[in-house]
Amino acid sequence: MDFELTESQLLIQSTARDFAQRRIAPQAAEIDRDERFPTELLKGLAELGLMGVNVPESLGGAEAGTVAYALAMTEVARACASTAVAMGVTNMVGEAITRFGTEEQKQKYVPKLTSGEYVTGAFALSEPGAGSDPGGMRTTARREGNEWVIDGAKQWITSGSYAGVFVVWARTGPIEAGTRGISAFLVEGGTPGLKVGKPEDKMGLRGSNTVPLTFENCRIPESNLLGELNQGFKIAMMALDGGRIGISAQAIGIATAALEEAAAYAKERRQFGKPISDFQAIQWMLADSQTELDAARLLCLRAAWLKENKQPFSKEASMSKVFSTEAAWRICDRALQIHGGYGYTREYNVERHLRDVRVTRIYEGTSEIQRIVIARNVLAG
Ligand code: CAA
Repeated sequence: MDFELTESQLLIQSTARDFAQRRIAPQAAEIDRDERFPTELLKGLAELGLMGVNVPESLGGAEAGTVAYALAMTEVARACASTAVAMGVTNMVGEAITRFGTEEQKQKYVPKLTSGEYVTGAFALSEPGAGSDPGGMRTTARREGNEWVIDGAKQWITSGSYAGVFVVWARTGPIEAGTRGISAFLVEGGTPGLKVGKPEDKMGLRGSNTVPLTFENCRIPESNLLGELNQGFKIAMMALDGGRIGISAQAIGIATAALEEAAAYAKERRQFGKPISDFQAIQWMLADSQTELDAARLLCLRAAWLKENKQPFSKEASMSKVFSTEAAWRICDRALQIHGGYGYTREYNVERHLRDVRVTRIYEGTSEIQRIVIARNVLAG
């Protein structure tokens, strides 16, 4: 057993950390306050290979593997969680096209995602009436001549106003076919019939763009079916297994920042004639946060390692996501508590971390869905 990172993993980690601390962190508060989508920062990440960390070099990626991807996500999220989620979804889309796409699809779309020519990719699975249960989706795709015609509505689409390409799931079989009647498609941003709605006014991740989509007679070439007909649900599940490692890493990054800020503040803030870090009440909060953060990191890197080594990792990705995101919430909450009244103001970053981290327990599968995945694996023996 080896806990050391490889040279290439350390290189990706330090590259991401350097860019994140130098370029992203100084803008994070303003990105949040002004709800500014960080286009130029995402292009900067693309220049460093971080929009396709686990994508082959031949398609413009860094080809550095899933562990390196998790490390990079943590560093970017430690600086700005909004920038990190756009990076995460783009990596997920690039990987899905690389894995399931035809040679033509890969050559056409992946280099645009990895190079930053497309600011982001987007993952259009959820619908107003189908969130935790995507198998209940109602969006349809029907074949007409050599085209697919998509009709329906999608909800909560990250980076939807900026995406160059969307992976869109739609029903291609009867409703009774359930998850076996769903296919995945590649739809370019700006395709006639694809309308992007008003961005959501969210509690956190205010620099990230989250929109509803409507598809009205949206026509795409027959060749834009991704993977096999009626096999799209499995593509979504497999992509989400990997995506959940990314969200786990994102939560770890946010919690890392919160803990660092809490420790620094505790040493500086004086009450009763001494720094509050001298009080055991504060020390225990820091100790619990550090322990939970380390456990989260180990679960996350183990899931990433399994994926990278082509071993089953669905259960481990869910365990990593549910533990990391819930621990990160507690760590951010303790960090705010340590800051006292000041933590409740915009003067310090901890209130942003607490708002940002909350959604990690919801998107890419709620904590409850992760527990379903874990329990099914346990019961399957
Ligand atoms: N890998 C491969 N195949 C899988 C799989 C996996 N991890 N999980 C399920 N499947 C397959 C099953 O084997 C089954 O195949 P067959 O048809 O051959 O039998 C098929 O998929 C259907 O599986 P289930 O019967 O288990 O499906 P289900 O309807 O019970 O759903 C679920 C299972 C785990 C609850 C799933 O619905 C789920 O993950 N829900 C959460 C959805 C989610 O995470 N949404 C996030 C939206 S995207 C997002 O948030 C991105 C963002 O913007 C940040």
